[in-house]
Amino acid sequence: MENALKAAFIRLARRRRGGAQPSDGDLAACMLNRQPGVNAFKVISFEGGFHGRSMGALSATRSKPIHKLDIPAFDWPVVPFPANQFPEAEHAEQNRAAEARSLEAVKAAIDAHPDEVAALIVEPIQGEGGDRHASPAFFQALRRLTAERGVAFVVDEVQTCGGGTGVLWAHEAWDLPEPPDMVTFSKKMQLGGFYCREELAPVEALRLFSTWLGDPLRGAQLEVILEVIERDRLLENTRATGERLVAGLEDLCRRYPGVLSGARGIGTFAAVDFPHAARRDAALTALRNRGLEVGGSGDRTLRFRPALVFALRHAAEALDVLESVCK
Ligand SMILES: Cc1ncc(COP(=O)(O)O)c(C=O)c1O
Repeated sequence: MENALKAAFIRLARRRRGGAQPSDGDLAACMLNRQPGVNAFKVISFEGGFHGRSMGALSATRSKPIHKLDIPAFDWPVVPFPANQFPEAEHAEQNRAAEARSLEAVKAAIDAHPDEVAALIVEPIQGEGGDRHASPAFFQALRRLTAERGVAFVVDEVQTCGGGTGVLWAHEAWDLPEPPDMVTFSKKMQLGGFYCREELAPVEALRLFSTWLGDPLRGAQLEVILEVIERDRLLENTRATGERLVAGLEDLCRRYPGVLSGARGIGTFAAVDFPHAARRDAALTALRNRGLEVGGSGDRTLRFRPALVFALRHAAEALDVLESVCK
């Protein structure tokens, strides 16, 4: 995350200088932590978004105060995330309106800081923030808008990458008019990194570097994992299992209306809401005591993040355990 944001800043500065080398004044000022006057570069992020706890990315994280409290932060714009309601069919109009409001807020944030917004960063599904979704049309509109305004469109796939949504990269499902400018990844991909358009890669050697940069052993492990995903058709498995899991959660929402609501998911990246945090936390303990290890996200959401080998029979078993806890 840190390196992706740095690459976006470096590109914006390069554009500003029209490709010229930094001046002696630029070099002297940066040594005093005073970037030349105009450099108040910004990253737009969404309410509820999570992009990590490291010093720079933390300013884009907007999920919970506990991560941010007492840490110096950049003055970057935050905009509302649509957080579409489920079942989708019952909330179509409200969801479209939320997405339109969010897009307007993004436009306003870019316009409020002409030539200062280096990047807009978004998760395909807000993970830590409570499994909050937006439609492919919303992401297409974000892509178009950021392309028009020269803002790097950074898709944070740290949590969604690696097949849990039924495709290797969640953004593959959006049918974008052009690819994201940068995609960050980690977790299921074994190592942390980003891939990007050529023009976002810094020209000078070592501008993005650190002691732990690169890890050939992890790369080799990932290669084997990707081969197994293909060999065992694990993405197909995840799509079929996810459909069953989400349909089962929807069914439980209908049958236990005072307990569960808002079943949603893409692939097995699925979730359901409880009325409030205390109920959700009690359910998490009860589920664990019955052998089902699931987690919480947001303040009242239960989230599923099973491995890619999670199959139909596991989904059926998990739903039975959840039902017993609902009862
Ligand atoms: C969407 C997303 N981005 C980034 C991160 C990285 O967070 P950190 O750098 O604090 O490990 C995470 C970790 O959970 C994440 O879910």
